Amino acid sequence: MAGPREAMTRVSLGTWPTPVERAPRLARALGLDPETFWLKRDDLTGLGAGGNKVRKLEYLCADALGRGAEVLVTSGRTQSNHARITAAAARRLGLRCVLVLGGEEEPTRQGNLLLDALLGARIVWAGPVGDAELDRRVEQVAAELEARGSPSAVIPLGGSNPSGARGYVDCGLELEGQIPGLRHVVVALGTGGTMAGLVAALGPERVLGIDVGATEDPAGRVVALLGGLGDPRERPVLRIRSDQVGPGYGVLTADASRAMSDAAELEGVLLDPVYTAKALSGLRAAVADGDVHPGEPTVFVHTGGLPGLFGHELAAHPEWLGKTDPSAATGGQGNRGHDRAD
Ligand SMILES: Cc1ncc(COP(=O)(O)O)c(C=O)c1O
Repeated sequence: MAGPREAMTRVSLGTWPTPVERAPRLARALGLDPETFWLKRDDLTGLGAGGNKVRKLEYLCADALGRGAEVLVTSGRTQSNHARITAAAARRLGLRCVLVLGGEEEPTRQGNLLLDALLGARIVWAGPVGDAELDRRVEQVAAELEARGSPSAVIPLGGSNPSGARGYVDCGLELEGQIPGLRHVVVALGTGGTMAGLVAALGPERVLGIDVGATEDPAGRVVALLGGLGDPRERPVLRIRSDQVGPGYGVLTADASRAMSDAAELEGVLLDPVYTAKALSGLRAAVADGDVHPGEPTVFVHTGGLPGLFGHELAAHPEWLGKTDPSAATGGQGNRGHDRAD
């Protein structure tokens, strides 16, 4: 629970601290030393099937409640993890939730979409619109709710504004306590709030972000968020790899497929194809090219996202698992209509 001093800025939604676990067989498969490699289990944050968005929503929901909101309004694409956890956070706090989803209405409810329905979120289908139009629709929905007497709060895309990023400042500080001498923290980079919070807590030298292709300028987003967090570094030199995106956001690559299979088969750890599988294959690439050395204390942040697996086209093609080039074999499009970060 948040203490009385924090009560103004943060509500309690998750289970803290999340565990750090050793993963010796996976460490060896990545070329790392089993004694100095850990998984930070932020997939086990507790609320609404867990994941990184819970930390952000503790701050974002406190802001919303402070403004007297009764309804949370947010956006994403069909398989948005952020949308699902926002819906769960609303329910935990006794609020309602409207999700403005890009794309056309899906004929079936799978993955995150099924959970959105279970959580009783109202879904507004925005059609195949770009980011700016999706944001406009969110504002429009919020204004309509207000006009009907339901105070509402807009939660930003991916939960990534400086307030949401504070959740990952907390995570960075938590990690400092859990892993003395921590040298590398490796994490998926989408809308940037997760990486920004970790960089604010640990410094840019220790955080390696693996771009998953969700936004056009991930580095610019992280820098802007750091500014909003009051980070004193003028021009932080960020460590970002962009070599794992492959054909595009959400499209499974051979390396990500291998990472998913390794985590599952060597450690019983389940990754998602959109974020965490690409992040783990980014760590493998970083070891291979000498950016991360065996023996340097290294943490891989598991940011969750598993429900998205059941809405990904991989769910209809389990025969792709372990294939050397699943996306080329299929011309795969990843999450249908899911071309923007969330
Ligand atoms: C499972 C998962 N991991 C990582 C991320 C990336 O986090 P951020 O958007 O803060 O960069 C997301 C964002 O949607 C996510 O859903």
